[in-house]
Amino acid sequence: MADRYTQLVNTPIGRIITRQLGLPAPVPLERYSPGQAVLEGRVLLGGAPGGRLARALAQVLTDAHAEVVEPPAAGGERHRALVFDATGITDPQALGELHAFFHPSIRTLQACGRVVVLGTPPAQARTPSEAVAQRALEGFTRSVAKELRRGGTAQLLYVAPGGEGQLASTLRFLLSPRSAYVSGQVVLLGPASEPPVLDWDRPLDGRVALVTGASRGIGAAIAATLARDGAHVVGLDVPSLTDDLEALTSRLRGSALALDITAEDAPERIAAHLHSEHDGVDVVVHNAGITRDRTLGRMDGALWSSVIDVNLLAVQRITDALIAGASYTVLRPGGRVLCVSSISAIAGNAGQSNYATSKAGVIGIVDAYAPLLGARLATINAVAPGFIESQMTAGMPFALRQAARRMNSLSQGGLPIDVAETIAWLASPASGGLNGNVVRVCGQNLLGA
Ligand SMILES: NC(=O)c1ccc[n+]([C@@H]2O[C@H](COP(=O)([O-])OP(=O)(O)OC[C@H]3O[C@@H](n4cnc5c(N)ncnc54)[C@H](O)[C@@H]3O)[C@@H](O)[C@H]2O)c1
Repeated sequence: MADRYTQLVNTPIGRIITRQLGLPAPVPLERYSPGQAVLEGRVLLGGAPGGRLARALAQVLTDAHAEVVEPPAAGGERHRALVFDATGITDPQALGELHAFFHPSIRTLQACGRVVVLGTPPAQARTPSEAVAQRALEGFTRSVAKELRRGGTAQLLYVAPGGEGQLASTLRFLLSPRSAYVSGQVVLLGPASEPPVLDWDRPLDGRVALVTGASRGIGAAIAATLARDGAHVVGLDVPSLTDDLEALTSRLRGSALALDITAEDAPERIAAHLHSEHDGVDVVVHNAGITRDRTLGRMDGALWSSVIDVNLLAVQRITDALIAGASYTVLRPGGRVLCVSSISAIAGNAGQSNYATSKAGVIGIVDAYAPLLGARLATINAVAPGFIESQMTAGMPFALRQAARRMNSLSQGGLPIDVAETIAWLASPASGGLNGNVVRVCGQNLLGA
């Protein structure tokens, strides 16, 4: 639901006042409801000459029943999405292809429209000139994301050579209302084994997902979304919240595991539970987290270590237990590990040296474990939320909370469902080409932008 300011500025009188005072004018974001098409409206699909993704893109869009049109756009035609294959840009001089496609089309984008630019990872370019040109796409896409108004988003998807067959799950996410609060992101898609044929409405059918910190807030939304997608959810939370946890998991037809993840024996108990009750786990979401904010000079050792223990050490210990059990491996082949970091980890935040340290450490876990898990056909990725409306952010001082809500390209806070949809995309069996990514769910927050 939109916050009160967003509701107010979308009334006729509110629109006049915000325009005259130059105030932020957020629009209510369109969000996914089950059964909805990937995108409703036309997709303008273009590309620089020599690009290698045209066929794969057309296939994914056709399979998603999108109405695809080619440039030049007919006069007065509006578009739901603008998709541009920039892999043919192998020299900085050819960057004008971006201008040639987007200059005439950018103003045809509908409210809550989508821009997706596809390129080649600079590290895998064949020449220095190609690497330079492909790196330049980042600045372009992030700037377009900041220029879009009315709930529009823009992303850059780098597709490594060999990753062409992995486009479907990512394109479906980025083009759909599921990615409502994700903007200005750079996602890396690599080669992987051929994605399974899926029921896109229930991609996790028959799979088991562990969600820590599941009893409320973002964790509850993640649990509900993974259950919606077909998973049996094992919700985990501290024993003091057992009633809330059990109420949630019984509603989702899942099961509850009440324990403190910092307990000495927690990793072994979690691994043993998943092994004996479910014969393993397919999706692990490290969502449980705490804040204990103070500036460093006022932060005692207990405040420091409680945050590091929950947000970082427990995540690594549990991951280790699930991938390297003494006599069995609990994370099944094709498993998905998802970590919840924070934009504080990327930009730093005054009063959060403990929290930002722990959440940057989580990104370190993703970096360090991605090759290990990739070798087992599993993946590990992180989401880094910005300001999300939850009990955690409801505790912020009023003025700071209002400022934090507006300091992003969409001028509003995100909802727990926005983080949950991003997790669900990365958790999909069709997302094997995504490994080692950190995707911010922050409306392109100005911090760490
Ligand atoms: N809300 C935001 O704006 C925001 C922004 C960035 C990152 N995050 C991250 O998202 C995650 C969820 O945040 P939220 O806003 O829903 O917070 P929340 O406080 O509403 O929920 C956190 C959950 O984790 C559980 N938990 C805490 N310590 C635990 C422990 N030792 N063992 C087991 N469970 C434990 C809590 O009981 C609670 O249910 C956290 O990792 C948080 O750091 C949130």
